[in-house]
Amino acid sequence: MATTATTWGSRIGFILAGAGSAIGLGSIWKFPFWAGINGGSGFIIPYIIFTFTIGITLLIAELVVGRAGRGSALHALKHLGGPVFSVMGGIAVLTSFVILSYYSVVGGWCVKYLFDSLCGELVTNDPKVLQATFGALVGDGLTNSLWHFSFLTLTCGVVALGVVNGIERLSKYLLPTLFILMIVIMIRSLSLPGAMEGVKFLFDFSFDKLTWMSVLNAMGFTFFSLSLGCGIMVTYGAYLKDSTDIPNSSLWIAYLAIQTALLAGLMIMPAVFAMGQDPNAGPGLVFVTIPFIFSQIPFGWCFMILFNVCLLVAALTSSVSLLEVCIAYLQNEWHMKRISASILCYVGLALLGCVSALSFGVWSEVKIFDRIIFDFLDWFCSNIMMPLGGLSIALLAGWKAWNSTYIQVNLVRKYSASANSFIKFSLRFLAPLLVLVVIATGV
Ligand code: PHE
Repeated sequence: MATTATTWGSRIGFILAGAGSAIGLGSIWKFPFWAGINGGSGFIIPYIIFTFTIGITLLIAELVVGRAGRGSALHALKHLGGPVFSVMGGIAVLTSFVILSYYSVVGGWCVKYLFDSLCGELVTNDPKVLQATFGALVGDGLTNSLWHFSFLTLTCGVVALGVVNGIERLSKYLLPTLFILMIVIMIRSLSLPGAMEGVKFLFDFSFDKLTWMSVLNAMGFTFFSLSLGCGIMVTYGAYLKDSTDIPNSSLWIAYLAIQTALLAGLMIMPAVFAMGQDPNAGPGLVFVTIPFIFSQIPFGWCFMILFNVCLLVAALTSSVSLLEVCIAYLQNEWHMKRISASILCYVGLALLGCVSALSFGVWSEVKIFDRIIFDFLDWFCSNIMMPLGGLSIALLAGWKAWNSTYIQVNLVRKYSASANSFIKFSLRFLAPLLVLVVIATGV
């Protein structure tokens, strides 16, 4: 079985690629509406705490397993953990594939919205028109599938170029651009009269906002937002040089992920409150409420374009990471060339994604556990498969291969005994316990 010889071009390139995976539609689309539904700070504070405790230790664990295993997620888990863990590695690859199939449908909406905003459409005084535009897009299986193909083409094109020339280069240019655009939109949003209500909503803390449900949701979101449990960071870890300090790089990735989610909140909520819109609007917040808000403000069309660029960039830097998990697997286990692996994945993902795309329209009657197919896949992957993947990584890195974990963590710089004990304790007890709670509540 071949192991990988590819390495990242630079440490910063790797951090941006890792952060690019973490920063996705989850940060920009899911975070503001989840914060909205869960009462703002009652969600944000636990999310930050979870990210800097179990989130970061699991991130370290995945990267460490990847670098020690040097290969696809399946290869790395098998190498360190034997046959049982190799099954978990295989499941992680499958999870990435399935997530990408439906993630790409939402990515397709981003391409379409960017296209429409460039053509000056979406500017209207009537929110019902925007609701209808969105409804027509998702409800029409053919249109929905075609946009999904367009996004998939972009994703496969980047990954086919390779780790350094494709993924790393994309993240190095687009992520800093994303931060700048988000800051510009945030300033515009904060400058609207009444915007401070939105800031208060996000950050004003009182204990009655902290509910059991908001804490659990924050825990699930931590997983999703750091792209944990589906082999991404294991795969990215395999491309790390021995001279890269994993804990330090992980801190950077977690920090950038949180910063972007907060920026997204500050870009959206102040505008929502200033324009008297509903912060609990759910998934439609980004595709209906935001275009409506931008339609109302001077030069809003310009901000609408910038906003849609942000969405697309975020979606793309995450989707390439999901695809890389599958490509590394096909290269390692089936000795395929990158190009052929990309084409094969394109075909498979295009077909599977159509199932999700159709589930909003003609197949909306098909329900699994009371959910349409798209929602079921999202629920199943986020609440069951990703946490299970996280659990197996915690058990592998914390128990079975702790010696290797310890060596990898301290390879570049010797961390203090208390830092090492914290990582060990978190991987052995804290992370498995919290993951089980996420799975139990998800079910
Ligand atoms: N972290 C990504 C986001 O926040 C989502 C994602 C999950 C990407 C799992 C890859 C894997 O959008």
